[in-house]
Amino acid sequence: MAESSFSEQVIAFARAKAMEALPTVIDVRVDTPANPPEQIQLKFVGLSYEDAYAEAETFVKVTDEFAVKHGKGDFASLGRVLDFGSGWGRITRTLLTKVPAQQVHALDVDDQMTALLNLTLPGINALTVSPEPPTVLGEAAIDAALAFSVFSHLSATAHEAWAAEFGRIIAPGGVVAITVLDAAFFAQIAGSQAAVAAGDTNNFAALLASTFDDLPAAEAGFQRGELQYASSGGGEMRTGDYYGWAAAPHQYVKRVWGAAGFRIVEWVPSGVLFPQALVFMVRGAAGPHRVPRWATSPVTRNVVSRRLRPLAGRVKRALQKHR
Ligand SMILES: C[S@@+](CC[C@H](N)C(=O)[O-])C[C@H]1O[C@@H](n2cnc3c(N)ncnc32)[C@H](O)[C@@H]1O
Repeated sequence: MAESSFSEQVIAFARAKAMEALPTVIDVRVDTPANPPEQIQLKFVGLSYEDAYAEAETFVKVTDEFAVKHGKGDFASLGRVLDFGSGWGRITRTLLTKVPAQQVHALDVDDQMTALLNLTLPGINALTVSPEPPTVLGEAAIDAALAFSVFSHLSATAHEAWAAEFGRIIAPGGVVAITVLDAAFFAQIAGSQAAVAAGDTNNFAALLASTFDDLPAAEAGFQRGELQYASSGGGEMRTGDYYGWAAAPHQYVKRVWGAAGFRIVEWVPSGVLFPQALVFMVRGAAGPHRVPRWATSPVTRNVVSRRLRPLAGRVKRALQKHR
């Protein structure tokens, strides 16, 4: 045989055994996908099996109802649905009870979770993203996006960058559901600090107790409408520069998501449905930060400044008179 000019790796590909049949796209009504090991379930959501899925089902059920009430219809009737920060996929799976795999997108920073989803939920669109956007998704490509316990961990910079990206990828009239830590988080930290002071050796209590160096200052910042972020990291690629504990007040969410083109239509405080607040938003018809063309055209600018100049002079003179 003539000497091959192909690499050994490519020759190994060519000689690999053929599959008996092509993999089929997941249909959860026919196949129940395998779960990851329990420690992975716990690591990502602090719950496993029935408890983890009960939370996922409540989230999908309530947001599906909100989508009917405030949006273009239920998830089953929409085009494309996104599970942002999908983790091991409990919410993605629950979405698959309503939406065909081809219409489901799942994004996460964790490439192992992407591999897990592609393996257990073949046919969905699982992608690894960077901690900050952009994504490869097109403008207005998504009709509904869900992010459970993701924005409750993101720094202000990451939160704001993703809100802007959602403004780009969510279609006009589309909906977004996120969860955030609210004012109750500060009481929880204070409770953990008291428990630790009283000798509680529970790891989680100790972790929470040390969340903010200056708890009263963080709480005051929250009351002023600023996101309070405590960098902790979350293991592996979830580095502390963008991942930790984040409490987001209503004013902050309204301001940041408003600038991205969204309107808050439901706010369910923490403790009602989940340990975090649920925020449901609708994307307006117009794009974010959209300034009408006429306002930026040089012709308009010249006309406006010509008309305003004499007026500005009169105001200035009137003010000088009254000094
Ligand atoms: C607490 S887990 C929640 C997982 C999933 N949403 C659930 O409820 O089952 C947070 C997830 O968000 C992912 N994540 C963190 N930062 C992210 C970012 N900047 N972009 C996308 N995903 C991110 C993490 O890797 C992790 O899978």
